[in-house]
Amino acid sequence: VQAHFTPKLLVGKKILITAGATMEMLDPVRGITNLSSGKMGFALAKVAMHMGAEVTLVYGHTTAAQPLVTHAFHASAASEMHATVMHHIADQDIFIGVAAVADYSPVLTAEQKIKKSEETLTIQLKRNRDILAEVAALPDPPYCVGFAAETEQVLEHARHKRLAKRIPVIIANKANTALGSDNNSVTIIDETGEYPLSSADKTSIASKILTHLYQHLSSFNN
Ligand code: CTP
Ligand code: CA
Repeated sequence: VQAHFTPKLLVGKKILITAGATMEMLDPVRGITNLSSGKMGFALAKVAMHMGAEVTLVYGHTTAAQPLVTHAFHASAASEMHATVMHHIADQDIFIGVAAVADYSPVLTAEQKIKKSEETLTIQLKRNRDILAEVAALPDPPYCVGFAAETEQVLEHARHKRLAKRIPVIIANKANTALGSDNNSVTIIDETGEYPLSSADKTSIASKILTHLYQHLSSFNN
């Protein structure tokens, strides 16, 4: 898109990005997922490549066109995404968790297709591990960036998540307008303040986010 105009600010930086939705299988043909399209994560991956980074993309279920990146790994279930991220996290400079990771998965996945019988069916779910919080808790963690898609009290929830997960940056966005859309309006929240970015296509938003991260990182490293 804007390859010619993108400054190569991220040359020599390794960035791992998760994108898309996870899928928790109930039986061989059914699963629990969500409406994440993968567009925001893919836009970040694409722009990070234009900026010269070495990009590792761990992607779940998506409806968007996959960008060309340095390394790409598909992960379906949250547990798979967790394992894939942990396997590639060493020596990453930046981790951006954009994936909508399932918070719960079925206690049991049926080996055969579940047959209907009673009027109601109860499915027991168990909590999944929090990939972002675990990456942030590593001994020498990459610079961690979370995404909070909220339907209400967007900034309040996002601020709380940044502190609860002990991550330096969270990007707040409104789930109902962001999900699946080509546009997004977000607020970057970090330890220096809150930076609203007005509604724009996800590529422009991605480029503003990465430039912000770069400026923040270089003010620490230099
Ligand atoms: N995340 C993750 N692993 C999980 C759940 C979430 O890595 N098991 C990451 C997401 O990729 C995102 C951030 O955590 O970057 C926030 O996800 P979100 O679902 O908004 O927050 P939760 O902490 O799961 O809180 P809740 O869903 O209860 O609002
Ligand atoms: Ca969640």
